[in-house]
Order: sequence, then structure tokens, then C-alpha cells
Amino acid sequence: MPRLVVVSNRVAVPDPEGPRQAGGLAVAVNAALKRREGLWFGWSGATCADDIAYKPKVIERRRRSFVTIDLSHTDYQEYYNGFANRVLWPILHYRVDLAEFTAVELSGYLRVNSRFADALSGFIRPDDWIWVHDYHLLPLAKELRARGHDNPIGFFLHIPCPPSDILLALPQHADTMGALAHYDLVGTQTEHDAENLRQYFEQQGASFGRNRTSFDFDGRRVLLRAFPVAIATGVYARAARNAIRSDFAAEVRESLNGRKLILGVDRLDYSKGIPQRIQGFGQFLDSYPQWRHHVTYLQVTPTSRSEVPEYADINQTVNELVGQINGRYGEPAWTPIRYVNRAYSRASLAALYRMAAVGLVTPLRDGMNLVAKEYVAAQDPENPGVLVLSQFAGAAEELDGAVVVNPLESEAMAAAIDQALHMPLPERQARYRRMYRHLAANDIDRWAERFLSALAESRQQPRLFDNLRQLFAARASLFF
Ligand code: G6P
Repeated sequence: MPRLVVVSNRVAVPDPEGPRQAGGLAVAVNAALKRREGLWFGWSGATCADDIAYKPKVIERRRRSFVTIDLSHTDYQEYYNGFANRVLWPILHYRVDLAEFTAVELSGYLRVNSRFADALSGFIRPDDWIWVHDYHLLPLAKELRARGHDNPIGFFLHIPCPPSDILLALPQHADTMGALAHYDLVGTQTEHDAENLRQYFEQQGASFGRNRTSFDFDGRRVLLRAFPVAIATGVYARAARNAIRSDFAAEVRESLNGRKLILGVDRLDYSKGIPQRIQGFGQFLDSYPQWRHHVTYLQVTPTSRSEVPEYADINQTVNELVGQINGRYGEPAWTPIRYVNRAYSRASLAALYRMAAVGLVTPLRDGMNLVAKEYVAAQDPENPGVLVLSQFAGAAEELDGAVVVNPLESEAMAAAIDQALHMPLPERQARYRRMYRHLAANDIDRWAERFLSALAESRQQPRLFDNLRQLFAARASLFF
């Protein structure tokens, strides 16, 4: 089995002492690295002075190497806070209106990709497979190819891919989206995303085969498919069963005082639709006053990317809205919304999910949203809660037992919460079973296997230009 080299912006170096707090990307990468020799390369999360050279730091853990580099202050500003999170993130989430483009930041982004390639290059062996993750590293394969690495290289986009017209609003898109053609395999979260990317490459002049799963562009053949990211379903369900017996769970349960728990868990990000959700909850209290005093809405929201101005704005908006709803509907003995800006361990979240009668997952746009999948996996099969899910989350293509809402429609959100709270037990159980079966059959190990076998397949396809080159060489030898 070839060694797997994984590259992502952040690297989750396991901390044997610390609590297990792995996010979706880390769970996915760990599944890919399971049972094989591997190396995970990326940013350490630290910054250094601009004049310090990029020096990789290597940590060995069992059969895995973790190799990290620090980013200079300028690179951190231009690449991470700048182009990645002020241009790519909003545009790929359909928010062209929020994109703040500068040519300096684009060149910082391209420079960091080139520095990643320089630092990684010396670690790559000729027979390694390379798997690159997410929007921070769109041009990395191009940089690696320029350094002579002809390894199989796959890319997975964890966030949405909008329609071609929106991608064309991305200044100099050929340097970022177009550079995806240097990968052998490009994976998206949903079939909808894959089709959007196909249309983009078609507009750029790529030619597609009849089944549209691969295309030829600039002398390369690229396989393009959807691989909906998943969770470690069985492991998560077990974790939730145990976590519900913890002191933390007991304390939260006691504080609820018999009220039903409505739960939202999101990074503080404008794509998550938190203000719209709070308004929807306010509408619910207004339209269904019989539920007042009988529910508590807990919104767990770790802050995120706080140096990016749009994130500071959303922080203020959410704080104000929580204050307004609590002020309008709260009473001395009842606070409708509990708002918590803190990250919790995987076990604590699993306990909260299992306790919640309603899981509110209502992003305005989301590649997949693993909170939705974890919420389902964490439920008690005998008495499951109900998932209220946005039609704009990638997970909505799979989780057909959820109550699906348009997060922009407050009245519909209010009605969905009421429907979820009233839902009879047999219906809750039937919906849960359907979704759990799907999640158990399509867990994260299966996801990693599917991607890696497609990567192998991508290298078996005849490559158009290799064939033309061979044909030309054969003809030339007839003349000389
Ligand atoms: C999303 C992205 C990940 C990213 C995560 C946290 O899930 O797809 O690539 O790591 O958000 O964002 P941050 O900027 O803190 O890494």
C-alpha cells in the first residue's frame, strides 16, 4: 500500500493528554490515514517574523509523521485572513457581496501555496499518494507538478462549489479554480457542487466524456466526482451513549428543569445562518406561545476567524439578537436563549445532541454540515430527537428523515420547530432509523476508501495528451 501524504491548512497533531476535540476535517483525515503509513502536512497555527525561513517541524506518532510550518505575519494576513477567508470563503458560499478582493492578497495566497510546495517537496517519495484538502490549497498540485512530482494527487473541497456564474466573479479565477485541473481527482461534497464545477470547466473550454465524470483540460485528464463527507457513525453513537451519563450531562439536564432542549452548534460564521435562526426562534415564541417556559434554546458557538471584519460584525449581530429575544420574551424564572461562545469536547457535544429534543441546523449555505450527521448519530433510538435542517446544507441531499426548512423563512422555521416538538414517537423513530441506517452504511471509513480508490482509478484512465505524445513519437520514428 503506498504511503499517503495529506495536506491541509491546519493539522490536528494528536495530543495524548488533551480531550478529544477533533473537527470534521481531522476526523476525515484520520480515517484516510487509518491502517496505512502516512504523513500530514500543513500550517502549525502559529505565526513567525517575516524574515524567518519556513522550517518544517516533524513530529512522529506511531506510523504517522506530522509536519508543520509556521506562517509569517504577512503570509497569515494575506493568505489566511485575506484571500482564503475574505474572498474564497464568501464567494464559494454564494456571498459575492461579502468578498473583499485585493491583488496583494491574491499574490500572498499564491505565494503561500508555493511555499507549502517548497517545504513539502523534500518529504515526497515517488510512490506516495497525495491528498490535498480544501479551499486554502487550490493551486497546490500545480506547484507540486512544477517541482517535478508526478504522483497521484487528489483534492477534496470541503465547502460548497457555487454555479459557474458566481465562480466567474472570482478575480483571476484561472489561477485558483482553474488550477484544480492539475489534480488527478477532484472531489466535491455533493453532486450539485460537482455539476457546478463541471459547468465552470466546460465554460473554460474543457471537454467532457459522455458520462461527465472526467474531463480533459490543458493537456490533463481530471476525474471529478462527489464524495459526501461522513462521520464515524458507530463510534459517535457509542460516545453519545456514554457521554449522557457524565457529570456534565447531569448538570445540564438539571439546569433544564424539565424543559425541552432545542440545540444549535456552529462556528460563529455568517454562512451558518445564526441570526436568521434566532429570528426564527423568536417567531416560534410569538406564533406558538404555549411553548414559552417549556423550551430552552441553547446555541453553542465558538468564535472563529475573529480578525476578519465580517466575523466581528456577525458576532455583534448575534449578541444583539440574543439580547432582544431574551429581553422581549424572558421572565425572571426563564431565559429563552442560552448563548455560549466556547468550544466543547466531542464527548460533551455528543451528550448535548442526545439530550436535545430538536437539533437546529439551518445554515444559509454549507458544504455538508457534520453537526447534522452527528446529531442523528447521537440520538437515543428509543426516544430520538428531530433534526430541523436547512435545504441549503449539503447534508439535506442525504438526510431524508429531517424536517427541511428554508432558513430565510422565519414562519416556516417556527412551524418546523413546533412540528418537531409535537412529532409522535413512532414517526420520530422511523425518521431516525432511516437516517441512521444511511449514516452507518456511509461512514467516514467508507468515504476515505471511495476517494482513494477513485484516485487509483484516475491514474488508470488513458491520458489524452500522453496518448497523443506516444502517437507522435511512434510516427516520428517512422521518418527517422
Ligand atoms: C471549515 C473549513 C475547514 C476549516 C474549518 C475551521 O470547516 O472547511 O477547512 O479548517 O472551517 O476554520 P478555520 O479557519 O478555523 O481553520
